[in-house]
Amino acid sequence: MLESYDVIVIGAGPGGYVCAIRCAQNGLRTGIVEREFLGGVCLNVGCIPSKAMISAAHFFHRLKHDASAMGIHVNGVSLEFSKLKEWKQSVCQRMSQGVSTLLKGNKVDVFWGDAQFTSDKELKVVSSSKETVVLKAKNFVIATGSRPVSIPGFEYDETHVLSSTGALNLDQLPDHLLIIGGGYIGLEIGGYLADLGSKITVLEAGSSFLTSVVDPDCAQVVVKKMQKKGVTLITEALAKSYRKTKNGKVILEYVHKNRTEQIEGDKILVTVGRKPNTDAPLLKNLNLTRTEQGFIKTDPQRRTSIGHIFAIGDIAGQPMLAHKASYEGILVADVLAGKNRVYDAKCVPSVVFTDPEIASVGLTETQAKSQGYPVLVGKFPFAANGRAVSMMHTEGFVKMVADQKNHVVLGVHIVGPEASNLISEAALAIEMGARLEDLALTIHPHPTLGETLMEAAEVTLGHGIHILQPEGTKRSTMSRPIPESP
Ligand code: FAD
Ligand code: NAI
Repeated sequence: MLESYDVIVIGAGPGGYVCAIRCAQNGLRTGIVEREFLGGVCLNVGCIPSKAMISAAHFFHRLKHDASAMGIHVNGVSLEFSKLKEWKQSVCQRMSQGVSTLLKGNKVDVFWGDAQFTSDKELKVVSSSKETVVLKAKNFVIATGSRPVSIPGFEYDETHVLSSTGALNLDQLPDHLLIIGGGYIGLEIGGYLADLGSKITVLEAGSSFLTSVVDPDCAQVVVKKMQKKGVTLITEALAKSYRKTKNGKVILEYVHKNRTEQIEGDKILVTVGRKPNTDAPLLKNLNLTRTEQGFIKTDPQRRTSIGHIFAIGDIAGQPMLAHKASYEGILVADVLAGKNRVYDAKCVPSVVFTDPEIASVGLTETQAKSQGYPVLVGKFPFAANGRAVSMMHTEGFVKMVADQKNHVVLGVHIVGPEASNLISEAALAIEMGARLEDLALTIHPHPTLGETLMEAAEVTLGHGIHILQPEGTKRSTMSRPIPESP
C-alpha cells in the first residue's frame, strides 16, 4: 500500500502529536507514525506518570506528617502500592486516549509501526505484525525523542538496574533504592519514593546537585529538605560496579573522594541523562548533519540539512523538555503552512518537581553577571506570604534578577509551593520585556502565592512591604509612564 501526504510526522510525543494536530488545522493532509504509544515518553513513561506519583506521594506524606498540626487526626494511613500503580497507569491511559481522540477529530491518519526512511521522499512503516506500509510525503517531521544514557557496568535489565521507565513501573515499594545521578529524574523519583517510605541514597558525580540547571540557592533549599526527610545525598561519588547478593539485593561499589565504598540496596536506578535517538535505523538512509552533542542540526525554522525534512523536540537539541518540543511542533506546522516564523522564544521555563518545586526562567544571577549585565537582585520568602503560611508551605523564596540600568526582568527563580504554576507569569514578563515596575504595579489578588512575584519585584526595587529590607537599602523611583489620553 502506498499513501501520499503533505506531511508525515514520525513520533507521537509532545513534539510530534502537537505538530500533527496543528498541521491538520492548517489544512495540510497529515499522517503520524508511532511504534509504541500516543503521547510519547512524556505522557506514558515520563512527565505524567512521574507527576502522578509525586502528587500521590506528597498527599500521603502530608497526611502522615502535617495533618495533625492542623488538628486533623488520620488514623492508620497506609499505602496500597499496587492500587497506586493502577491509578498512575489510569492517568497515563486517559491522557494517551485523549491524544488519540484529538488526532482522529483533527483527521490526522495514525500509522502504527516502526518507521524507516528508504529515501528522503519515502518512509517504510513495519507494524508489530510485520505488515508494511510505504508513505510518501512532500515534507517529513522527525520527532522521535531520546532515551536514557547508560553507564558501563550498569546495563539496564529493569530488575536490578532500572531506567526511569522501570522505576516508574515498580510492583513493590523498594526498601532501599540506590540512585546514580542526582539530576531531574534522580531527585524527582528519589523524592517521591522517600515520601512513600523508601530509604533513598543518591550518588552524584558532580560537587553539588542540580547546579548546572537551577540557581544554586534554590537547589540548596531542596537538598536540605530531602536530607531532613532522611534521604542520603552523596556528591563526588563515582559508581564503579555492582554485584547481586544471594538474597536478591545488590551491593554497589563506588569511589568517594579517593576512597572505595560499598553500599547495599534493593535496586539501582541509573539517571545520568538522556541522549537523542539519532543512531536509530530510521535515519540510516539519510545523511543528516548532526551537532557536536549528537542532536540533529536544524536552522531557526527547525529545517534539517535536507530542506523538506524537519526535526523537533528531544532529537533536535536542548533543553529536552516537553513544552519546548510542543513549541517547535507548532512552529514547524506554521512554517509548513507558509507562515513566516522562526524559533524566537526568548526563554524556556523549567521545573524540577521536587519538594519544594524549583521553577526557573531566564538568566540566573551568575549568568547575568557573566554576560556583563549590571544586576539588581531581590528575594521574597514564602514565609512572609499569607497564603503560603495558611497552606503550611513556607519554605523557599522567589528570586528576581533584573538589569540595573532599565529594570528589565532577566530571570526569575522560584523554590517553594506551586513554583511550577507561578513561573508562567515570569516567562510572560521576560517574553514581553517587562520591567520590575510592571510586576510590582500589577494588582495581584490576595491572598495568593502569586503575590510573591509582585513582592519580589518590589523588594528588588528596594520597596518591600512585607519584609524588612536592611537600613540604607537603595529605593528606586517606582513609576510607569502615564498613558496618553485617548
Ligand atoms: P518523545 O516524547 O520521546 O516521543 C517520541 C516518540 O517517537 C515515542 O513515542 C517513540 O515511541 C516514537 N518513535 C521513536 N522512534 C520511532 C520510529 N522509528 N518509528 C515510529 N515511532 C518512533 N519534560 C517536561 O517538560 N516536564 C516534565 O515534568 C518531564 N518529566 C520527565 C520525567 C521522566 C521520567 C522523563 C524520562 C522525561 C521527562 N521529561 C519532562 C522530558 C520529556 O518527556 C521529553 O522532553 C519529551 O517527551 C520529548 O518529546 P518528543 O516529542 O521530542 O519525544
Ligand atoms: P540530568 O542531566 O538532569 O542529571 C544527570 C545527573 O547525573 C547530573 O547531575 C550528572 O552530574 C550526574 N551524572 C552523570 N554521570 C554520572 C555518573 N557516572 N555517576 C553519578 N552521577 C552522574 O539527567 P536525568 O535526570 O537523567 O534527566 C534527563 C533529562 O530529562 C533532563 O535533563 C530533562 O531534560 C528531562 N527531564 C525533565 C524533567 C522535568 O522537566 N521536570 C523531569 C525528568 C527529566
